[in-house]
Amino acid sequence: MKAEKKEKRVLVVDDERDMLILLKKVIAKKCGCTVQVAESGQAALDIAESWTPDVVLTDIKMPGMDGLEFLQRLHEFDQTVSSIIMTGYGTIEMAVQALKEGAYDFFEKPFENDKIVHAVDRAVERTQLLRENVQLHNLLVKHHKETGFVGRSKKLNQILDLLARLAPSKATVLIRGESGTGKELAARALHDMSNRADRRMITVNCPALPEQILESELFGYKKGAFTGADRDKDGLFLEANGSTILLDEIADIPVSIQTKLLRVLQEKEIQPLGQTRTYPVDVRVIASTNQNLEEKIERGEFREDLYYRLNVVSVVMPSLAEIPNDIPLLAQHFLELYCEEHGREELEFMPEALQCLLRRPWRGNIRELQNTINRAVLLCNGDLITPHDLMGDESEFSRESGGPMGTQTCFLHLPYKEAKEEVLSYFTRSYLANILTSNQGNVSAAARQGGMERQALQRLIRRFGVEAREYRP
Ligand SMILES: Nc1ncnc2c1ncn2[C@@H]1O[C@H](COP(=O)(O)OP(=O)(O)OP(=O)(O)O)[C@@H](O)[C@H]1O
Ligand SMILES: [Mg+2]
Repeated sequence: MKAEKKEKRVLVVDDERDMLILLKKVIAKKCGCTVQVAESGQAALDIAESWTPDVVLTDIKMPGMDGLEFLQRLHEFDQTVSSIIMTGYGTIEMAVQALKEGAYDFFEKPFENDKIVHAVDRAVERTQLLRENVQLHNLLVKHHKETGFVGRSKKLNQILDLLARLAPSKATVLIRGESGTGKELAARALHDMSNRADRRMITVNCPALPEQILESELFGYKKGAFTGADRDKDGLFLEANGSTILLDEIADIPVSIQTKLLRVLQEKEIQPLGQTRTYPVDVRVIASTNQNLEEKIERGEFREDLYYRLNVVSVVMPSLAEIPNDIPLLAQHFLELYCEEHGREELEFMPEALQCLLRRPWRGNIRELQNTINRAVLLCNGDLITPHDLMGDESEFSRESGGPMGTQTCFLHLPYKEAKEEVLSYFTRSYLANILTSNQGNVSAAARQGGMERQALQRLIRRFGVEAREYRP
């Protein structure tokens, strides 16, 4: 499919009317652009505000507002428009100034038509690329906001990009990942970013229901299909018609239901219990699991053909251990969330508390982190969250009561030299995470806070494989 051609808009500003007529003719004819003209900077600003040109060509010397001031004011409300300046005798200095301030190109009057055409073509292309980039970026930010995902790590961003790309299709998606890594959140994001978003997504918690009930819930039944079926009932697949169904924890469904599910995926129709006829359904299926389906197939507990049907595309959610740089951000997010929910004044983490969060293992991943912070907000009785609020008596910090070094008792069994290195390395990592978080990834500001040269901080950052970028908003 050929991309739709966009209109190319050029605004020419000059106080000499003849020049305007000439340029309009050349540019419209040779560049295929729509051209508007203005005889003063003010008139040009009025046009630019409502018409959003891709390129402006402006004279420098004009009565009233000169070309330099015009460009400054133009760039205040449009940072993507490309400007070309036309210089005449005695205006070179102003032209240089304009280029310094971000003008894209310039040429001297009198000029050759071909040069102008070439410059305008390049400038239009530049603007359109810039605008596409801004649009993509906004789309991504919007998606991040809409999906409820918090995190700046490369891994999480890649997952979000993948979800955004998969969302518009009807393809079945298998979401895998340890428990608490955000599988359900990912499924919801897929649905919310799809064109089915105005319909409710149906979630089926597969292991929660006994075999018989799961079957009738999914596919529905006809009156009299079994004892107690005293009326017809639509199943969840029918309810999800035109929308999305999430089969949560798919690994646990009994083999008999797996067979029926396979049929729905293949034939795109359902057959309620006790019913002879089938009903076509248009349902996007998302399945999730934290189990090893391949092993289940080996053991004969999961149908291989169903596995292939479900696993058209898989999305693997990272464990918290794979995205440690996101821990401070997630912790802060949950802190704000629960302070509001429990009607508490704004609380903050003690630095040692953040260190605890960074160091301890999170087998329950983001859900466990979330629960830990919820509990800490409830328990905290000052305005700082302490390691004890987070970890109770498990907190080595509270047992040691010995200041920051008390948090590193787990290295004490090592030989002295190794233990010292481990403690230092652990300390440096948490220190870097802390100052980068509080300075939103700005290395110069972080260096100032840490009382060191920017280059020294850069060296540390590189040595410890930290990505300052990931701390930026
Ligand atoms: N990147 C994230 N940003 C913010 N919150 C998150 C993120 N990932 C997960 N959560 C939150 O963590 C909790 C657990 O997420 P979710 O239920 O989606 O995980 P799951 O993988 O389905 O877990 P389980 O295996 O236990 O079913 C939810 O409250 C969710 O909102
Ligand atoms: Mg889940």
